[in-house]
Amino acid sequence: MQIPIHLAIIMDGNGRWAEQRHLPRILGHRKGVESVQGIVDECLELGVRYLTLYAFSSENWRRPQDEVEALMALLGTFLKNELSRLQKMGIRLMAIGELDRLPKSISKILKESIKKTAGNDRMVLNLALSYGSRNELTRAMQRLGREIANGKLQADAITEEDIGMALDTHDIPDPDLLIRTSGEMRTSNFLLWQTAYTELYFTEALWPDFSRDQLLQAIEEYSRRQRRFGLTGAQLRNKENNDGEGRH
Ligand code: FPP
Repeated sequence: MQIPIHLAIIMDGNGRWAEQRHLPRILGHRKGVESVQGIVDECLELGVRYLTLYAFSSENWRRPQDEVEALMALLGTFLKNELSRLQKMGIRLMAIGELDRLPKSISKILKESIKKTAGNDRMVLNLALSYGSRNELTRAMQRLGREIANGKLQADAITEEDIGMALDTHDIPDPDLLIRTSGEMRTSNFLLWQTAYTELYFTEALWPDFSRDQLLQAIEEYSRRQRRFGLTGAQLRNKENNDGEGRH
């Protein structure tokens, strides 16, 4: 089985999971945290190197205030409880998004956890928090614009690499596989630049029900796909023979 180096997940359906059971939505999010823990463990076992989770979008700030507050509280508890597990498992925490919009208490433990786990190298757990791809691209354009204004960069000389380096994900390779749960077939402003060649996988399962077995099914399907990156099948086979590696 071909294991994706970078797996990204849109964890959708917590609210519906709760509503189907006539429970408050926040209980769906709480159950969603259990799925997060199970999937982190499984990814580490499988040898995934980067796991990016869409935990809170730029648009999620518009949800009812009590849900936003409950989600932030859940995130705080998750970060506090998870730190020792991350250390034990050798997982490095990273985060992307407009992190200065997070409540101070959350950004403080987030920064501390990122710092404390910086030396871990078995897997990167990258949380997208207050993240929106258009917001990230806008901030990247502003950064490049400032460099042009300072005379450090020439507009016509901007390359795709420069844009990649100005994004929050500059230390992280592009995702190989993107999974979205809950049956919605869209990418909702998530990693738009970075997923140009990413394999997409949609499942009906709601995030709290997304199990290790379902993750394996997604990776099995990913393994069967041929990633051509714009080349023909024959060119790709030649390239693989020349590279001497079986990745596709
Ligand atoms: C989408 O479900 C999920 C979210 C907006 C938040 C995801 C958060 C978690 C899984 C828990 C916190 C995460 C971490 C890493 C601690 P939804 O509410 O949009 O579901 P719905 O579409 O059914 O309403």
